[in-house]
Parts: sequence; C-alpha cells; structure tokens
Amino acid sequence: MDTNIPSSVRIVEVGPRDGLQNEKQPIDIATRVQLINMLSAAGLNTIEAGSFVNPAWVPQMAGSEDVFSRINRLPGVRYVALVPNSKGFERAASVNANEVAIFAAASEGFSQKNINCSIEESLARFKPVMSAAKTAGIPVRGYISCVISCPYDGEVSPQKVAEVSERLLAMGCYEISLGDTVGTGTPASVTRMLDAVLKIVPADKLAVHFHDTYGQALANIYASLQRGIAVIDSSIAGLGGCPYAKGAAGNVATEDLVYMLNGLGIQHGVDLNKLIAADQFISEKLNRQSGSKVALAASR
Ligand code: HMG
Ligand code: MG
Repeated sequence: MDTNIPSSVRIVEVGPRDGLQNEKQPIDIATRVQLINMLSAAGLNTIEAGSFVNPAWVPQMAGSEDVFSRINRLPGVRYVALVPNSKGFERAASVNANEVAIFAAASEGFSQKNINCSIEESLARFKPVMSAAKTAGIPVRGYISCVISCPYDGEVSPQKVAEVSERLLAMGCYEISLGDTVGTGTPASVTRMLDAVLKIVPADKLAVHFHDTYGQALANIYASLQRGIAVIDSSIAGLGGCPYAKGAAGNVATEDLVYMLNGLGIQHGVDLNKLIAADQFISEKLNRQSGSKVALAASR
C-alpha cells in the first residue's frame, strides 16, 4: 500500500448537522438526540451535533440548544457546533459545545447565497468568534465550501482554496475541512486541489469533506489518504446535502467509509454493526432507504 497512507484516521460524523439540516420533513429533538447517542455509542469521537445559524435560514437546526442539553455526553467525545457568527458562538457556548466550526467558501457566489456576505466579510465576521473562542478555551475548526466547484460560479481554482485555507489557519483554526459541497470532484481534481493547499498547510491540519453526488466520494477519500490526510468527514446513512447547493447529495456514508478503512487495515475505532443500527434507526424515522451501500448490503 502507498507509504503516505495514514495507519489511523479520525472520522468526523456530520450526519446530525450536515445530514439533518437538509431534510424537508420535521425532525423532533428526541430523534436528533437519540441519533447522536447511538453514534457516540458506536465509537465516533467527533460528532457535529447541530448548528447555531439563523433558524429562518435553516429551520431544521432550530432547537440545537435543546439537542446539546439533552445528549448523553460520553467522556472523550467532542460534540461540535457549526456557528456562522458571534451570535451563533454565544448560543453554542451557552450549551457547552466542546468545539465550534466556522464556515467560509472558496467561491464568492456560494458565500453570498449561504451566509449572505463576501468571503472577505465572512473572514472579518469570524475574527470576534475566534477571539471569544480563545478566551473560552474552545477549539475552532474551519470549513471551506466549494473547493472543487460552485453551483453559482462554476469551477473553483485550487489556488483560491489554498488562499482561504491559509487565512483560516492564520486566524487560529486548528484544522481546515475542505468541502466538495457539490460533489463534482474526482481523484484527479481533488489531488490537484490538495497539492495546492499542501504547499501552504501541512496534512496534519487538514480534513476532507466529500458529498457523494457523482459517486466519487470514496475514490476521493482514497486519493486524500494517499496525500496523508487523516481526518475524514462522513454522514451516517449518507444523509444530507446543502440547502444552498441545489442537487448536492449527502456526504459519503459513514458505514461505507468504515468498511473501506477496515479493508485497508486503517484504524478508526468505530463499530460497524452499531453504525448500521444507528442507520436503521434514522432511516426508519425518515421513512427512507439508507444512502449507505454497506448498510443495504448488510440488510439483505
Ligand atoms: P443575515 O440575515 O445577513 O444576518 O444572515 P444578520 O446579522 O443581518 O441578522 C438577521 C437576523 O438573523 C437577526 O434577527 C439576527 O439576530 C438573526 P432579527 O433582528 O431580524 O430578528 N441571526 C441569528 N439568529 C440565530 N442565530 C444566529 C444568528 N445570526 C443572525 N447565529 C447568517 C447571516 C450567517 C446568520 C445567515 O446567512 C445564516 O444563518 N446562514 C446559515 C446557512 C447555513 O446554515 N447553511 C448550511 C451550512 S454550511 C454547509 O452545509 C457546508 C458545509 O457542510 C461544508 C460543505 O459541505 O462544503 C459546512
Ligand atoms: Mg457539507
């Protein structure tokens, strides 16, 4: 196997946020809480549990305070909150989120549609979040959306992704998650993008976040592993999409990722059977077939 490939990875489970934010049907707090508890019980140690954005923009994430207050917090598990601004940070801090994630974009069109401001304005808006988080001792993760293409602006240059990565790192983010929000990337375009970013940011400060719209997510993860990336975002049952990237599918399914890592002999600490149980729980609640090929195969 490629010598650059890490021997262990950390999986960042984003289903309860990136997944459920995109649902059309209402999801009650008890279901969100139980899903998170099942995911932590499966061994996931980083779980994005909700977001503190304007609920008029993303109604499914309303009530994230209640979710954070009611989950059964396991020791060693980081419960992460997505926050767009200082108001979001205050809401997240008030319910003791262990970590927060800010989110910028590599394309102006998506930045405007998703957070109603330019990339530059968003970075300025994050500054007070960074200083409040520093004072509170809360680590901050930085997302970059549209690292391959943008639903409004088209193809995105790897150089732009590298620039925004550098800015977020300089602001104090401990890790940058590179998001192929639309899911158009292939191992070739992903590798080009990573090579531009890796000139500036070391691999141990990077994570990858692939939406599986064109069925390329696992291949793209493998390409990222070959570049030494050891943090991978995924979503139980392949839930989700982005309300501001029409047509984008969910993230790579956590079960499919775990199955591939098992095959590669890469450590991750997650129990596949327990993941499949969490998948069955949420798929039944949403009354839909799982987006995980592994979960479907296991149920046959
Ligand atoms: P805005 O309208 O420009 O904000 O939205 P504003 O500062 O002008 O405030 C307008 C109103 O919103 C005010 O209320 C604020 O108090 C309220 P009013 O005075 O009118 O009653 N407000 C808030 N309320 C609750 N919590 C807050 C908050 N902030 C303001 N934090 C804003 C700007 C950023 C808030 C808005 O655009 C927003 O909430 N956007 C979030 C969009 C979103 O959640 N998108 C999905 C997540 S990103 C994603 O999925 C990509 C990712 O997965 C990676 C990838 O795949 O690429 C991360
Ligand atoms: Mg996403």
